[in-house]
Amino acid sequence: MKTQLALPTLLLTFAAMWSAPIHAAEADGRQLVEMPPEARAELRAEMLDFQTALHLIVGALAEQQFATAAEIAENKMGISAMGRHRNAPPNARPGMFMPNEMQAIARSMHAASSDFAKMAKRGDTTRALGSLTAVTGACVACHRSYRIQ
Ligand code: HEC
Repeated sequence: MKTQLALPTLLLTFAAMWSAPIHAAEADGRQLVEMPPEARAELRAEMLDFQTALHLIVGALAEQQFATAAEIAENKMGISAMGRHRNAPPNARPGMFMPNEMQAIARSMHAASSDFAKMAKRGDTTRALGSLTAVTGACVACHRSYRIQ
């Protein structure tokens, strides 16, 4: 019963957020995560790779290239893509500066990408897209909560 009431409320909240654009300089509710310039640069580079991967995945799904979508998701964003900065000097490892909750969102994104890869291999576009929203949901959750500048 509670969830039936909660969902419309949540949707209304989102609608309100969109219809009233926030002027970033005035009211930025995101938490500032401070990190050295090297770590910031690494994080940005990784983000651009995520964005490219996501773009290629959606394109692959549109063409029903399920194996390609799965491969990109696993290799570029999944569990296999974790530890990219393992051998970098500490000041160039963004993860070291992230609060625990932020790290948890990052891990959930990697796990969701691996889950998506498995789902995509089953060859059902609708289900694959549904599974992909767990990945994009992690992008949104982190971007809505944290900033580095
Ligand atoms: C664990 C947190 C986290 C997750 C998960 C995450 N991001 Fe980010 N992302 C950030 C932060 C922090 C920034 C920098 C925001 C700022 O400029 O302060 C950022 C910035 C970006 C940028 C801008 C890069 C630039 O050049 O400034 C892109 C593009 C991006 N993210 C894409 C994605 C995509 C796509 C996903 C999901 C597949 C994703 N991110 C998931 C934290 C995250």
